[in-house]
Amino acid sequence: MRTIAVINQKGGCGKTTVAVNLAAALGELEKKVLLVDMDPQSHASLSLDISSQEVEYTTYDLLKNPRVTAEDATCRYSDHLDVIPSSPVLGAIEQELAGRDARETRLASKLARVDDMYDYAVIDSPPNVGLLTFNALMSAGEVVIPVDPSIFSLQGVGKLRETVELLENETKHRVTVSILVNNIEKRTNFSKNLVDELERLHGHELMDVTISHSVKYKEASLRGVSIFGIPRSDKLKWEFLTLARELEDRSSLIDTADMGEWMEKLHGPRVTSGSVIFSVDAPAADSVYLTGEFTNWSREGLRMEKDGEDGLWKVAVDLDSGEYEYRYIIDGVWIKDPRNVDSVLNEFGQENSLLIV
Ligand SMILES: Nc1ncnc2c1ncn2[C@@H]1O[C@H](COP(=O)(O)OP(=O)(O)OP(=O)(O)O)[C@@H](O)[C@H]1O
Ligand SMILES: [Mg+2]
Repeated sequence: MRTIAVINQKGGCGKTTVAVNLAAALGELEKKVLLVDMDPQSHASLSLDISSQEVEYTTYDLLKNPRVTAEDATCRYSDHLDVIPSSPVLGAIEQELAGRDARETRLASKLARVDDMYDYAVIDSPPNVGLLTFNALMSAGEVVIPVDPSIFSLQGVGKLRETVELLENETKHRVTVSILVNNIEKRTNFSKNLVDELERLHGHELMDVTISHSVKYKEASLRGVSIFGIPRSDKLKWEFLTLARELEDRSSLIDTADMGEWMEKLHGPRVTSGSVIFSVDAPAADSVYLTGEFTNWSREGLRMEKDGEDGLWKVAVDLDSGEYEYRYIIDGVWIKDPRNVDSVLNEFGQENSLLIV
């Protein structure tokens, strides 16, 4: 699955319009697409006529509750498009997760588990750079930054670029940046000058396709459909299909090896078709055991073997579908899995790692 985050801290530049219609365009190209609404305003969900009141789970539950999976929170919109909707309570998540582990990677770890169900995930993000935008960025291999034709957007892109670079340096997680001009009156000199200036500043990151200004986008969101559900809008559909194809062609720029390694560090045990492989990094340890619900929390647990010289201890376990709490015992000390962001409190007030197979 390729994950594209649509971000810009500037309000109203077209993030939601681009996210919704890009997701729909990829669907038109027969791709299987998951649209994730990470904005408490819920505009992406509402513009596809999905209200948080009608669904059981939203992105709020996905980030808050380790037991809610991406599949639980998914609504089917069409054959090719699924949506994880948002709700206004998502606005409180930053405070609610304050001081908690791996706050920025919660979405990434949930999406990693539906990786083979979709060709693309497209994430709509809110108009600020906070926890929700960081979650979007950490989940994504690619970023699309829509800019509307104004002088403020030029400055905004520079600032956002710095944020992305900071994140890349801190996390070693690289993203491909694509800048997309949206809401443009193509024939005006002002627009032409703006595109020239963006090209001078950002070179190959600027996308060839631009998205025209049209009232049909408002009409579409009022009707609860994408532009592909609006009659007589062939030019607009063509622009979004061209955007989808241009992004497809950019795939070679993405360092997927880096992404894979990073993902593995993040979501703990690897679920393969035959078994679940648990691994923990403990180069100096003499003995490492895995224990959990599947061993009745026995002190002996399952003995793990040191794998080569890199200090990684591993064991493969056959587990049926379900939920499992577990911990590692490293030289007699019980710890939760440092590689797994999902955990629940046990009766002693300590955290058990949580695995959902
Ligand atoms: N290409 C376009 N042509 C005409 N109107 C557009 C276009 N793109 C966006 N708009 C309109 O501009 C408004 C803001 O767009 P949108 O909601 O997509 O921006 P946003 O960046 O998601 O905003 P926010 O920062 O609040 O999330 C909407 O009313 C939308 O219909
Ligand atoms: Mg929006």
